[in-house]
This record gives sequence, C-alpha cells and structure tokens, in this order.
Amino acid sequence: MKIFFGIAGFLFLQSLLHADVKELYLQHCQVCHGNKGQGGLGSSLVDGQWTHGDTDADHVKVITDGLPDMGMAGFGSVLSDKEIRSLVIYIQELAQRADPPQAPPQSQGIFTTQHQIFSIDEILTNDQKMWGLSFLPDGRKIITEIDGPVKIMEVDGTLNPPIEGVPEIARKGQGGMLDVAVHPDDAKNGWIYLAYSEGSKDKCITTVVRGKVRNNQWQEEEVIFRADEKFRGGAGVHFGSRIVFKDGYVFFSIGDRGRQQYAQDIDYPNGKIFRLHDDGRIPADNPFVKESSIPAIWSRGHRNPQALAFRPGTDELWSTEHGPRGGDELNRILPGRNYGWPTVTFGMNYNGTPITEHTSLPGIEDPVWHWTPSIATCGMAFANAETYPGWKGDILAGGLKAQIIERLRIGPDGVEEREVILKSQGRVRDIKTGPDGFIYVILENNGSRLVRLVPEQ
Ligand code: HEC
Repeated sequence: MKIFFGIAGFLFLQSLLHADVKELYLQHCQVCHGNKGQGGLGSSLVDGQWTHGDTDADHVKVITDGLPDMGMAGFGSVLSDKEIRSLVIYIQELAQRADPPQAPPQSQGIFTTQHQIFSIDEILTNDQKMWGLSFLPDGRKIITEIDGPVKIMEVDGTLNPPIEGVPEIARKGQGGMLDVAVHPDDAKNGWIYLAYSEGSKDKCITTVVRGKVRNNQWQEEEVIFRADEKFRGGAGVHFGSRIVFKDGYVFFSIGDRGRQQYAQDIDYPNGKIFRLHDDGRIPADNPFVKESSIPAIWSRGHRNPQALAFRPGTDELWSTEHGPRGGDELNRILPGRNYGWPTVTFGMNYNGTPITEHTSLPGIEDPVWHWTPSIATCGMAFANAETYPGWKGDILAGGLKAQIIERLRIGPDGVEEREVILKSQGRVRDIKTGPDGFIYVILENNGSRLVRLVPEQ
C-alpha cells in the first residue's frame, strides 16, 4: 500500500512539475506560431526556413533568450531546460506532420529510389504476426511468430506446422517468441538460437537458448543466457532480443524492460547488449568480467535495441535502438561503452513529459544518427553491394510506426545520405540479408508478410 501511494504520489508530483509538451506549446507558443506551427504573429516553424539558425542548439537559444527586438520574450525563466528540449522535439514533430517523408515513386510495382530500382517479391503471407527470420544452409527459412510458434518454410514456399517442443513463452505486450538466428556453421553443427520472453505474465525477461531441429522437433536445448529470476519484471515492454554471430561469438540484446534506471547499472541485465562464446561461456576479455555480476555484458545504456548487424567485411557491430519519443538511435556498438539511456537522450517520454535536456555528455557515446521525430526502429541490415549496386553496402533501417525502410549511407564523418526507400507497406518488424544477397523484410499489418526486395534494371 505504502509503495503504491509512493509511486502514485511520485507520478502526481511529476505531472505537476512537467506539463505535457503539447499543453506547453498551446499555452506559450501557439498565440504567435499557430496551433500547428504554421505561423501568425511569429514565423512558421514548419516551413523548413530558419532565420535564427537551424540546429537544435539554435532553437534552444531562441526559446530560452527570446528575440526581444522581434517581439518574442524569452522563456528561460518560465520553462525548465528539459521542457525547452521537449518543445524543440515537438517543433520537429509539427514540421514532419506538415511535410511527411515521401515514399519513392512507384509505377506498376517498380520502386524508383535515388540509386536503385527494385520491386517487391511477396514470399509468404501469414495470418499470425511473424517476428524473426533466419536462413538454413539448405535454402529453407526459419521464422518465429510472437505468439510462440517457430516454423520452417520450405524452399517451395510452404510453411510447415510449428516445430514441437520449442520453449514456452510468457506472452505479454511486446514479449513472446522473438528473434531466431541460425549458427553460421549450422551445416556442420545444426545449432539454431532463439530469444524469447521467459517466465510468467507478472515476471518475465528475455532468455536465449539454442537447439537443433530434427523431424520438426526441437532437441538438445542448451541455455545460452538466462538472467537470474530476480530480474524478471511485469512490464510488457522492451525485450530487445536480436541475435548475431561473429568469429565464434554470439551477440544479443535485452531492452530495459521499462525500468530505465537499470540500463546504466552493470549488475542488471536490463538495457544491455551482450557477448558470449557461441556455446554460452563467458569470454575472458569481456569488458565487465571483473566489475559486474553479469560478465556477459558488452555495452550498456540501451532502451530497446531491436536490431543488430555486423557491417560486411568488418568487425563493426551496429544497432538501431527503439528510443523514447524523438529519441530513436543508430549506434555503433563498442565494448564497455555507455550509450546513455536514460541519462542522455534526444527524446522525451511518450506522454510528452520531458526526460532530460542532455543530448550529449562526456563519457557517453553519441548515436551515429537519431530520429527526431521517432520512426519506432525495428530491424536493420546492410544492403549487399553486389546484389544492390546502387546501395553500396548502405544501412537499411526499419520503422514500425512510420512504416518505412530508411536507407542511410555512412561515411567517415557519419551519415552522408538518407532516403526513404519503402513506405506504407506495413509496420517493418525485421530486415535480414539472406545468403543469396537479397534483403528480406517482415511487414506487419493484421497478420504479416515476408517480402524480398528484388533489384531491377
Ligand atoms: C509573442 C509572440 C511569440 C511567442 C509567444 C513565441 N514566439 Fe517564437 N517567435 C516570435 C517571433 C516574432 C519570432 C521571429 C520571427 C522572425 O524572425 O521573423 C519568433 C521566432 C521563433 C523561433 C525561431 C524561428 C526561426 O526562423 O529561426 C523559434 C524556434 C521560436 N520562435 C519558438 C517559439 C516557441 C517554442 C515558443 C513557445 C515557448 C515561442 N516561440 C513563443 C514570436 C513569438
């Protein structure tokens, strides 16, 4: 009871301290800038034209100090730094609403993007929600469905009945049967890895196991990573779960499970990316082997990393992270580093209350890119440069809410090009490069579809 009132009281205080960003805007800004930012006494905030500088820092300065000569008073004494940050995010949301990102031109199923023409080949439709996809060495595919089943798709496209004996899941919110990854030496060793939410609806967290499939049966299961039961929680959010391999190691992610503060704590599995030997042993040179009770941790300060991929031909691990509102991130993952959540973020809470004014701090890795407004990142892959010559190994990042795939070209100084290459085909759940070099995408609507992007000349 006491705890309950403690939390309720805390939330009440928070709501007194911090108004929703929309209320802030309507109360302080709309009279001059219009309810949609279209302008009036003040200039338009949504036409892409900035007289007083176009960076976030410029906007913060104008809002804090005002433009007394032009009739705008400063808000530095009325609003907190956090609230001003939330207004900067809100202005960008208004601008995007006024001018949403465009889909590439399409004619008779042919999509013409800046550097690459392609069509969509539909491989599978499913009345269930598929979550993860991986490729068996004989050309078959293995897919997960969030409600629990794991199924093999034959080369001819038929989907087999669920594999029997796969782990029991705790199906709650975003939790269920999540990623699947076939070991790179599967042809020799037969290992397949699964990540899923384990426990009960009241207490669950992401677990990673491996096993082998024979006669459509899950066999020889071994636990790769299972967090102590004390870390299981009741939130239905932020399970992470993507699995990738490199040089005998397996990497995977677990989201913060709605308990933000633990993402910073190396004695909690929440909000981390992990590295283990592919059989689950702890590598002796992991960054926190000495300091942490969870020596599998590779990096920290993550909210919900829902994509992991190695850049082909390198040992660079990249991730997209589903951030708070306005704070989705693309990160290059390095061992032992801190990616900032929730101390540093470009975003605010989904209810419009601020989190922090800090978008960068010493000792915290800056994202390579951040999406403000959010696209709700999930799934990403590097486009194979031979299959898609126009895309030269670019990153393709998926968005659930935005229903887009965005292409990002990364140069020595960061993002050089960005382009929406697919839009409004469904919520983008997973993007993987197949052994055939093609990009495969899981798209969600009522059920889900698996499609392939086919380059055209
Ligand atoms: C009393 C009217 C008034 C109010 C209230 C007001 N502004 Fe302004 N704002 C202006 C004027 C006038 C300008 C300058 C337009 C120009 O340079 O042509 C301006 C400029 C700006 C700019 C810079 C635009 C540019 O082109 O670089 C930003 C950003 C901005 N305001 C945000 C806000 C926000 C956020 C609020 C609410 C917290 C707010 N303003 C409240 C009148 C107002």
